[in-house]
Amino acid sequence: MRYLTFALTKGRLAQKTLELLEELGITCQEMKDKNSRKLIFVNEELKLKFFLAKGPDVPTYVEYGAADIGVVGKDTIMEEGRKVHEVLDLRFGNCRMCVCGPKSAKELLKHRELIRVATKYPNIAKDYFYNKKHQTVEIIKLNGSIELAPLVGLSEVIVDIVETGSTLRENHLEVLEEVCPLSARMIVNPVSMRLENERIRELLTRLRVVLKEA
Ligand code: PRP
Repeated sequence: MRYLTFALTKGRLAQKTLELLEELGITCQEMKDKNSRKLIFVNEELKLKFFLAKGPDVPTYVEYGAADIGVVGKDTIMEEGRKVHEVLDLRFGNCRMCVCGPKSAKELLKHRELIRVATKYPNIAKDYFYNKKHQTVEIIKLNGSIELAPLVGLSEVIVDIVETGSTLRENHLEVLEEVCPLSARMIVNPVSMRLENERIRELLTRLRVVLKEA
């Protein structure tokens, strides 16, 4: 039997994924050793391999077939636009993609003014403003601390992830429009989906049972 390889998003999503897999009796003892610098973890018995990657790289590994299966946020799947099958909503990592800014920016949105939008997600922002809202905007790509942009006058609004909303509150910003809800998703390489159909389908069936019980 060949190995089924999982690419997991480093951090909280990987942690949550491993907890979920444990409920199915799929464990990876090696991975729990926090001090280990190892990059790939193997479960010999079940012929599974796991590795950790940065979120935006997970769909890349899966598209090229270096991983059969990936776990990554819906935001990253949308932003990267890779050729992968999204097969399951894992229902953790729940948050929302939103247009945010100071209250005063509401009017600018309403009147479809040519505003500047700062974001880590230029493709999502473009799709939202151009295709859904038919509003021309200037998109400015940033790499983090997006909330800073309207505070220092780089942009009028931002497109960013809102989880608890506390970052917005503490900076006197608010949600102006919701783009879409987000959560962790399982993605599969299209060729793996055919070649390993039985194993992958069985895994999905078992995951669906556990997710329903939760
Ligand atoms: C994310 C996001 C917001 C914040 C939202 O940033 O970009 O800044 O979390 O969470 P909240 O609604 O619970 O406050 P993250 O901490 O991942 O880092 P980043 O700013 O570097 O992107």
